[in-house]
Amino acid sequence: MKAGFVQFSPEFGKVDENIDKAMALIEKADAELIVLPELFSTGYLFVSVKEASNLAEEIPTGKTTKALCSIAKKKKIHIVAGVAEASQTKLYNSAVLVSPSGYIATYRKLHLFNEEKLWFQKGDDGFAVYDIGPCKIGMMICFDWYFPESTRILALKGADIICHAANLVLPYCQDAMITRCLENRVYAIVANRTGEEKRGDKKWRYTGKSQISSPDARVLYRASDEADETGIVEIDVSLARNKRINKYNDLFNDRRVEHYSDLIEPSS
Ligand code: ACM
Repeated sequence: MKAGFVQFSPEFGKVDENIDKAMALIEKADAELIVLPELFSTGYLFVSVKEASNLAEEIPTGKTTKALCSIAKKKKIHIVAGVAEASQTKLYNSAVLVSPSGYIATYRKLHLFNEEKLWFQKGDDGFAVYDIGPCKIGMMICFDWYFPESTRILALKGADIICHAANLVLPYCQDAMITRCLENRVYAIVANRTGEEKRGDKKWRYTGKSQISSPDARVLYRASDEADETGIVEIDVSLARNKRINKYNDLFNDRRVEHYSDLIEPSS
């Protein structure tokens, strides 16, 4: 199957323009699965809860999810995209999965980064895997990559492809995801944004270099750090489903889980 990402530089607060830009890029993409960056329609660098609240949308009735559903239907594709979610009185940094037949699911970011903790609630629904036909996908958002448990759990639940919506500001993720893919035998699509945001006295530069890496630790595509770019590759799902390393070793069956309980509650 063909899968990939769309990388661009959303303009803070310009939801309609950002949606139009993303739709135009998706329109031209020849793939069955496309991943968009974190918070792609609002921008990232909020300065108050009020501002985040004004820009966040309900899922799936908000305009961002509706636009994604409409292009997914038109192009007969699946899309994963980062959305600022309003749910009753709470705000979440979320990702949606939509299909040709409409909205499927929301993932709420578990590991919030930096000042995100001031605007968003921590996700409380955990990680889930979805069978989209040609493959099974799992979603995670940006800083989740720093916690190897995120990819591991998705892989153990059967994900073939990790769809990773990101607004990366640190330089480590792209290289780290190569190892995440190797140690879990999965593909990862990191859809990062580019550009700079200046809000009040705050300034972030996003690192671009969106990337698709393979279960055998190859970088199948790495984008530039500045340009709008669509990266699409051919994915061999069977490679992600084969967890055998050699005649004697199996990546999942060889785990010694009886010795891993310190991961949950370390003993001194
Ligand atoms: C991040 O989690 N957006 C760095």
